[in-house]
Amino acid sequence: MARTFTRPKIALIGAGQIGGNLALLAGQKELGDVVLFDIPDLEGLAKGKALDISHQMPVEGADTKITGTSKWEDVAGADVVIITAGRPRKPGMSRDDLLDVNVQIMKDVANNVKKYAPECFAIVVANPLDAMVYAFEKITGFPKNRVVGMAGVLDSSRFRLFVAEKLGVSVEDVTAFVLGGHGDDMVPVVPLCSVGGIPLTQLMKADDIKAIADRTRKAGGEIVALLKTGSAYYSPAASAIEMAESYLRDKKRILPCAARCDGEYGFKGLYVGVPAIIGKGGVEKVLQVELNADDKKALDVSGSHVQELVNEVAKRLA
Ligand code: APR
Repeated sequence: MARTFTRPKIALIGAGQIGGNLALLAGQKELGDVVLFDIPDLEGLAKGKALDISHQMPVEGADTKITGTSKWEDVAGADVVIITAGRPRKPGMSRDDLLDVNVQIMKDVANNVKKYAPECFAIVVANPLDAMVYAFEKITGFPKNRVVGMAGVLDSSRFRLFVAEKLGVSVEDVTAFVLGGHGDDMVPVVPLCSVGGIPLTQLMKADDIKAIADRTRKAGGEIVALLKTGSAYYSPAASAIEMAESYLRDKKRILPCAARCDGEYGFKGLYVGVPAIIGKGGVEKVLQVELNADDKKALDVSGSHVQELVNEVAKRLA
């Protein structure tokens, strides 16, 4: 008798710049079969990208099925759902400027995810990130371990790159955690940054560290200003895939991500960037790390900014 196991199903809601790259990376890594979804007007975009990427799979040696659709029925039973549906920034815009339009899109998306993929692990990427994760949880009522936002992996990757370039070492040996909200007041936590296990502060002058932290905070805007047509998409896609992989393969990576804090770091019911263990249980644990007074203060400031955005979202969902 034929075995009946199935491969994981990964639904990507939004077949735009990040969505397309998510499909490519999920395909290359054989994480599961991929459904790339967009609105009916852009069904051709979803189908076209899915076809193009599936034509690449033999070159990759990857047996991944990739399909495009605008029908929610095709998302049914997805194990992982990654949400990029939403407008990206244009030059001169902050992520917060996207709140109005993206919360309306999130209403549609979250209600459909609730209906068609009620058991999924959901990774939100749309901005303003922390507030969109809150909106998703509020609408779906999913338990907090199955709802997470992607920002910290990307912000930390940017910090790692800048440190590696400055020191002339491999990015592989640089560990960093950027915590807090995914905005200009995010908190690169310097005492948590090490290079080959050596604290960064032993290898780099304080001024240089500060310059790298500043560049990290503005790195998304640096790309928006250059692209002019939208925001970063390769690196956000890779970061979300790292989180999906940790879930699907139960790797239990410790990743900075927007997870709901219920008391941790003094936050009450707030989604904000914190170190978390991602495994088969979803967000299995938020790690409470001791912070120095400056970082604690900075995290409080960032958290209150997220809370203001959440209050705005709550009004729009009422
Ligand atoms: N359902 C499904 N898809 C939708 C919906 C919806 N209700 N509304 C919009 N979309 C789709 C758009 O049609 C578009 O194809 O979401 C896609 C978004 O793709 P891009 O405009 O290329 O944006 P992208 O660069 O992928 O960024 C998406 O992630 O990082 C954030 O700030 C960024 O909020 C933005 C999001």
